[in-house]
Amino acid sequence: MKRLNKNGIGVGLLSLSCLLVCAARLHSQQSGTAAIQATTPERVGTEPWWPTKSTVALEAFAGSSSCSGCHAEAVAGRLITPMQRAAEHASEARFLKVKPLINFSSPPFSYSLTANAAGIEYSVFAKGHRLSRNLDWVMGAGELGRTFLYQMDGHWFQSRISAYADPAALDLTTGLSRNSSADLIAALGERLSPEDARRCFSCHTVHSTTVTGFNPLHAEPGIGCEACHGPARKHVSAMREPAMHSAKDAQESDTDIFDPAKLSPSDSIDFCGSCHRTFADVVLSAGQSTGTAVVRFQPYRLEESRCWRETLDARMTCVACHNPHKPLNRDATSYDKNCLQCHSATSGEHAQHAGNLCPKAKSQCVACHMPKVFIASMHGTFTDHFIRIVRPDEGFPQ
Ligand code: HEC
Ligand code: HEC
Ligand code: HEC
Ligand code: HEC
Ligand code: HEC
Ligand code: HEC
Ligand code: HEC
Repeated sequence: MKRLNKNGIGVGLLSLSCLLVCAARLHSQQSGTAAIQATTPERVGTEPWWPTKSTVALEAFAGSSSCSGCHAEAVAGRLITPMQRAAEHASEARFLKVKPLINFSSPPFSYSLTANAAGIEYSVFAKGHRLSRNLDWVMGAGELGRTFLYQMDGHWFQSRISAYADPAALDLTTGLSRNSSADLIAALGERLSPEDARRCFSCHTVHSTTVTGFNPLHAEPGIGCEACHGPARKHVSAMREPAMHSAKDAQESDTDIFDPAKLSPSDSIDFCGSCHRTFADVVLSAGQSTGTAVVRFQPYRLEESRCWRETLDARMTCVACHNPHKPLNRDATSYDKNCLQCHSATSGEHAQHAGNLCPKAKSQCVACHMPKVFIASMHGTFTDHFIRIVRPDEGFPQ
């Protein structure tokens, strides 16, 4: 098991080379106070419920639509929160409705996306030949971009080009390379291994893999309520049955639903990390990303901060700053209150885990201490969650 003890030393079934390399790396990066760290595969294998868990029966899920009528606040965010809209069936995709034809040229190939009655037709052309596919899925809400999935000969493929927001145009899919000598099949997209296809759906949809195996036909698109709260059919029937509800209240027994508010701070970060990548996921992964690309793994970056390492405090979890039921708040000033809980004169000596005061400014803390990093291959800007003093002459700290 890839559990790491307090000092970040991997124990158990790690390969020897990884054990040496990873343990050394963890040791240098984590302070002695860091909590027990686990990888997502290990969490998924051992916890009764954890996001991306794939051994639950389809019948145990109720669907996000069944939460309406109760939980008004969480439900209201459902259609406007990019995370909850992280995938769409191509037949229902809205994004091409405004502009029904998009072209892109990458010699010797040219590409097009065309809205048609069935949804979206995706084509590649070269030297008078053409290969077309009707798309099955659109992955990504489009904050940065969208990538397309289709099937061919019983396999899943991801499109070689994606639709990006900035600039609004098609371009090569992040992580894929250009190959001018490819045949049309390879130019159109890249075949996904069954495991990569399964993982893709598990982070962008709900219950695509259940106890009966991988079947994206019955997946709920996007990070629906049960992607985080787990199968809810029992909860929905219990809450709809007033007698049972009050009996439950009386006994203070559980509500048959997973409540992430009860997680410890460290587990809470790992919970969001099940898709955003935990500290251990990043450090122990075989082909660890290097350079600025790691900036998109927020849990990993956040846990490098002294604010976290010296406190392990609930005021430093993802949900302390982000409401998962609402779109991301883009007003830098709105995060001041989070920082000032620890870094203010009034938090004082009596406040637990108080930090020093800033000698430079009193507001917009994140603008200087959580710098933006532009990643060209992803056509987007990410926020470095490694909270720190940024020195003008220093490079990107790993
Ligand atoms: C008929 C109304 C109703 C429906 C439908 C319903 N809930 Fe609830 N839910 C409740 C009530 C009432 C509580 C508070 C229970 C308590 O404290 O005993 C609750 C509590 C919760 C909690 C907090 C759990 C806890 O232990 O405090 C979560 C999370 C939750 N619901 C999620 C969902 C999700 C997700 C759905 C849809 C799949 C859903 N609910 C559908 C009525 C409902
Ligand atoms: C089941 C996978 C999954 C889990 C669990 C998950 N996320 Fe996400 N999250 C995503 C995906 C996928 C996106 C990208 C959505 C898109 O734009 O297509 C995302 C996007 C986001 C965004 C940016 C959204 C925006 O409005 O631009 C934030 C913030 C975020 N997640 C926070 C969280 C927090 C906090 C948690 C833990 C409570 C969490 N996520 C758990 C998959 C997940
Ligand atoms: C381990 C979980 C995970 C896997 C596997 C995964 N994604 Fe994502 N994806 C995310 C998260 C989290 C985000 C949001 C921020 C980020 O890291 O870019 C995201 C963002 C995206 C975006 C940008 C969305 C936007 O609104 O700009 C696209 C497009 C995307 N993923 C496509 C895919 C495709 C296609 C696959 C599979 C072939 C895939 N992802 C596999 C977790 C995952
Ligand atoms: C990305 C993960 C994620 C998704 C998706 C999600 N939730 Fe939550 N939800 C959480 C977390 C985390 C908490 C605990 C927040 C905290 O600690 O303050 C929570 C808390 C709740 C609660 C408890 C009451 C409260 O406000 O503390 C209810 C009810 C709830 N969610 C309902 C829903 C419903 C309904 C949906 C779908 C519309 C949904 N959630 C989607 C992560 C999620
Ligand atoms: C101390 C506050 C704080 C904490 C804690 C925090 N974030 Fe953020 N997060 C931010 C800010 C500020 C932004 C940038 C908002 C904007 O665009 O103006 C952001 C942006 C994001 C984005 C959008 C993509 C990007 O990089 O800009 C995602 C996804 C995200 N956070 C996920 C997470 C996850 C997952 C966690 C837990 C590991 C987390 N955040 C913890 C403050 C925080
Ligand atoms: C749970 C309490 C807590 C929260 C919340 C918190 N910090 Fe900290 N932070 C600390 C502690 C403790 C230290 C270590 C002592 C110090 O340098 O102030 C620290 C250190 C720092 C440092 C110095 C880092 C270094 O490398 O020397 C900066 C800068 C900082 N915090 C900024 C922020 C900003 C900006 C926010 C909000 C986005 C924030 N902190 C939120 C507790 C916190
Ligand atoms: C205009 C950019 C800027 C803004 C805005 C800003 N800071 Fe700073 N902060 C700095 C710089 C630069 C330093 C390093 C000062 C030095 O070492 O000379 C610093 C230092 C710090 C330190 C370390 C202090 C010490 O004595 O160790 C903390 C903690 C901190 N800032 C927190 C915050 C908080 C909290 C906010 C919001 C209330 C904030 N900062 C807003 C630029 C900024």
